[in-house]
Amino acid sequence: MARRKRPLFARWYPDAAARLEERGLAAQRARLLAPLEGRVLEIGPGFGANFPHYPDTVTELVAVEPEEHFRDLARARADELGLKAAIIEGTAEALPVETGSFDAVVATAVLCSVDSQADALAEIARVLKPGGQLWGFEHVGSPGRARHAAEKVLDAVLWTHLNGGCHLSRDTLGAIRAAGFDTAGMSEERFAFLPFPVSKSTHLVGSARKPA
Ligand SMILES: C[S@@+](CC[C@H](N)C(=O)[O-])C[C@H]1O[C@@H](n2cnc3c(N)ncnc32)[C@H](O)[C@@H]1O
Repeated sequence: MARRKRPLFARWYPDAAARLEERGLAAQRARLLAPLEGRVLEIGPGFGANFPHYPDTVTELVAVEPEEHFRDLARARADELGLKAAIIEGTAEALPVETGSFDAVVATAVLCSVDSQADALAEIARVLKPGGQLWGFEHVGSPGRARHAAEKVLDAVLWTHLNGGCHLSRDTLGAIRAAGFDTAGMSEERFAFLPFPVSKSTHLVGSARKPA
């Protein structure tokens, strides 16, 4: 099934999100991306907020983004930074790149929004080299029963529609494990600087390894 386009989200999100960078998001990105090296694939770069934080040890960057407006903004950001990056159209569920060809895949605040986490994670595993890692941060569903039920209701009636397909209630750690990744490199944090309700969500941060 073709992914639903979300052009309105691509218009309002960049200004709203840019304000969060200096409140703490840029520091999270810098910390997350510092260890990266080699060929890197970023999925759903949006307006390219991760681009300033890639270290020189990254030898090639390819970014796959479904929204045209985000691709334009990401290309402009890469040009502004003098960063060589191929920014191409596609979705996480059908990555238009070769099997076993990347040392690392980056997805920050993307697995909350993909149509199918299982399909996206199967594709991420396909394109990584053996032993390669998925790096990212994602807000995830709460362990508490009452709060999780509230997140599910909010997703169904309002949140997902208003926020570019984002879900508050997803078990992203479970999905990453079910796709065969070793999640020892992932930890849980609170991004309290984000707006409510994601300020109250647990964030999964770090890397998950595809078996060698
Ligand atoms: C909340 S934004 C995050 C943008 C960026 N990664 C960041 O950290 O600021 C979600 C991003 O995921 C992208 N996205 C949504 N569904 C996707 C899918 N199925 N495949 C790839 N990217 C997707 C959106 O177009 C958008 O760029």
